[in-house]
Amino acid sequence: MASRVAMIWVSCLLLLAAACQGAGAAPRLRVGHYKRRCPSAEYIVKAVVGKALYQNPGLGAGIIRMAFHDCFVQGCDASVLLDPTVANPRPEKLSPPNFPSLRGFEVIDAAKAALEGYCPGVVSCADVIAFAARDSASFLSSYRINYDIPSGRLDGRVSLESEALRFLPPPFANLSQLVNGFKAKNMNEDDLVVLSGAHSIGVSHCSSFTDRLPPNPSNMNAALSALLQTKCPLAPNFTNDPTVVQDIVTPDQMDNQYYKNLRKRNVLFRSDAELLASSLTSRKVLQNALFPEVWERKFARAMVKMSAIEIKTAANGEIRKNCRVVNK
Ligand code: HEM
Ligand SMILES: *[C@@H]1O[C@H](CO)[C@@H](O)[C@H](O)[C@H]1NC(C)=O
Ligand SMILES: *[C@@H]1O[C@H](CO)[C@@H](O)[C@H](O)[C@H]1NC(C)=O
Repeated sequence: MASRVAMIWVSCLLLLAAACQGAGAAPRLRVGHYKRRCPSAEYIVKAVVGKALYQNPGLGAGIIRMAFHDCFVQGCDASVLLDPTVANPRPEKLSPPNFPSLRGFEVIDAAKAALEGYCPGVVSCADVIAFAARDSASFLSSYRINYDIPSGRLDGRVSLESEALRFLPPPFANLSQLVNGFKAKNMNEDDLVVLSGAHSIGVSHCSSFTDRLPPNPSNMNAALSALLQTKCPLAPNFTNDPTVVQDIVTPDQMDNQYYKNLRKRNVLFRSDAELLASSLTSRKVLQNALFPEVWERKFARAMVKMSAIEIKTAANGEIRKNCRVVNK
């Protein structure tokens, strides 16, 4: 036993990555991880994402949100993609934060299928999500948000509805709940404010913000509230749960408009409005509202940081063949 441990150490010193992973260390993520074994990997993902978003830009919003929901639950390991099975009937995918609102799964499937055609068994689903989110941000920002994303993630085998509920902050969260939820994943107030700017694209179901419509009290901008009441007529009866755009000014552009809207209380969720509840976060909101390029750069950096949360090791990870099921 002792000699086995010693051997693993020696192997680590010799930089035999697989042996180090056997010892339980997470793989080191690096830009261009697939350069040798699948040189076109990132290009293939970008092509599939580009085609899908050309037809339906909303899928890009779904994929960026998917990266967040993946990384905050079991780390960035594609656990959000796993379908229900007899053995695991309630995966993350079926939890209220994800079902039925999370979208873009078919785009990930299409990218993975293309990758399996070129280099079978090489590219992890977790990396596909990270690449696809990066490409979505690039397309939806008219290429103003651009970043290299380190890769080499492994896919997990655990996916539980209960953990999605525990780790994904709800839209009715207050500021301290949001800050604590981010802290639990090593993300700080700046990351919280900067990443919330993703709410400058995409849509929300009415049921996600009825807590801020009459008869409930809220500080939502009165004109926005009036508009939403016409679009969400069945509240609180959700048999019919329409969607509305999150950014009423530039709904399809990933930009810093979110922060300008927020300062006028033209935002849907309490979790958005609460970013004005402390002087620290409201100062950050103002900076992002004033300096679009600063926000774009910070958003890229925060996405890279988020995409490194709790990476799986060879002991608890694998490269899935099909993103929806764990390997046999
Ligand atoms: C800070 C805590 C957050 C809360 C409470 C929150 C909550 C929500 C909710 C309730 C929706 C609407 C879901 C629906 O009803 O259809 C939504 C949509 C969205 N969120 Fe967040 N979110 C948060 C942070 C983030 C982060 C960090 C990102 C990405 C970096 C993100 C990206 C998105 C996107 C892009 C959409 C639109 C999705 C679509 O159109 O399909 N959110 N969020
Ligand atoms: C935020 O919500 C939590 C849970 O409901 C509560 O304990 C806490 O006091 C709230 N914080 C503020 C500042 O309102
Ligand atoms: C909800 O709305 C549907 C029609 O969309 C109606 O059939 C149903 O009775 C309503 N339920 C409640 C509890 O109001």
